[in-house]
Amino acid sequence: MRPTVAPFPTTRLRRTRRSAALRALTSENTLSVGDLIWPIFVRAGENIEEPVPSMPGVMRRSVDLSVEAVKEAAALGIPAVCIFPSPDISLKTELCEEAWNPDNLSNQLIRAIKAEVPEIAVMTDIALDPYNANGHDGIVRDGEIVNDETVEALVKMALAQADAGADILGPSDMMDGRIGAIRKALEENGHQGVTIMSYSAKYASAFYGPFRDAVGAAGALTGDKKTYQMDPANTDEAVRLIERDLMEGADMVMVKPGMPYLDICRRVKTEFGVPTYAYQVSGEYAMLMAAIQNGWLDHDKVMMESLMAFKRAGCDGILTYFAPAAAKILNAR
Ligand code: PBG
Repeated sequence: MRPTVAPFPTTRLRRTRRSAALRALTSENTLSVGDLIWPIFVRAGENIEEPVPSMPGVMRRSVDLSVEAVKEAAALGIPAVCIFPSPDISLKTELCEEAWNPDNLSNQLIRAIKAEVPEIAVMTDIALDPYNANGHDGIVRDGEIVNDETVEALVKMALAQADAGADILGPSDMMDGRIGAIRKALEENGHQGVTIMSYSAKYASAFYGPFRDAVGAAGALTGDKKTYQMDPANTDEAVRLIERDLMEGADMVMVKPGMPYLDICRRVKTEFGVPTYAYQVSGEYAMLMAAIQNGWLDHDKVMMESLMAFKRAGCDGILTYFAPAAAKILNAR
């Protein structure tokens, strides 16, 4: 139902924008610290914190320093972190066995966080790319990314993460049938309470470039991911994928990348009314930071505006590399 707008000057829409107080009263959306999920990169070693060149301000940390960073995030009120491992190249194999090693980097960090910062939720990434000699999210046979064999590997990976104490599993691989297979395995193995945030509508995007540098997957990748990630031209297909993943047992769904796909976020929220998240990906972060470092954009203002855009589009939360910086601003208000 459309509200009536009486003609000018009966209606002057600027009246409610006149003061900060009136703007606060008429504000339709709010961004809060509770909306933020912070993606972090973990590497081997001790006492190491190294910058990711294509993502200014983002670090790759060893497990010990990752735990310190997560403590700071928890102190800021950030409800969740999402772990991405950057394993040594020697661990990358054709069958990706390191992915379900109970002691791999990611599982070590899950255990360390759950021991020292139990109040923060730990989210994981389920995909084979960090451990794959081919850089793909799935197992490659004769040049093809094989679906069903990959799903079997992903289930093992998911169970190892759940055993380590993960709260939210994030399948980002885009194989068919993985949500149902993972949900069934969780139910059968005593992990009924573990949630799944499916990267349901994940596009084959050029905006992931800096991330692939961060996890060391860029050099390894042969070809592209178009046979499993979505065509940026499609919308209806996103709706089908979301519906499929919900039917298979996803608790939350994600659209990725974020800002170029706000139309998808809105459509998902409107059509399904389920917990909906967006990933403001590495390329979006790098793009903003590059302009900020040139003095062309204002860091705090453009960061907050970009995050509010997700709330306006219907998202319940945002995975963002800006999480700690945004939390500091929100806490100071
Ligand atoms: C791996 C994965 C990717 C991202 C999250 N999980 C990269 C890819 O699919 O190639 C991208 C995150 C970012 O760009 O910030 N499956």
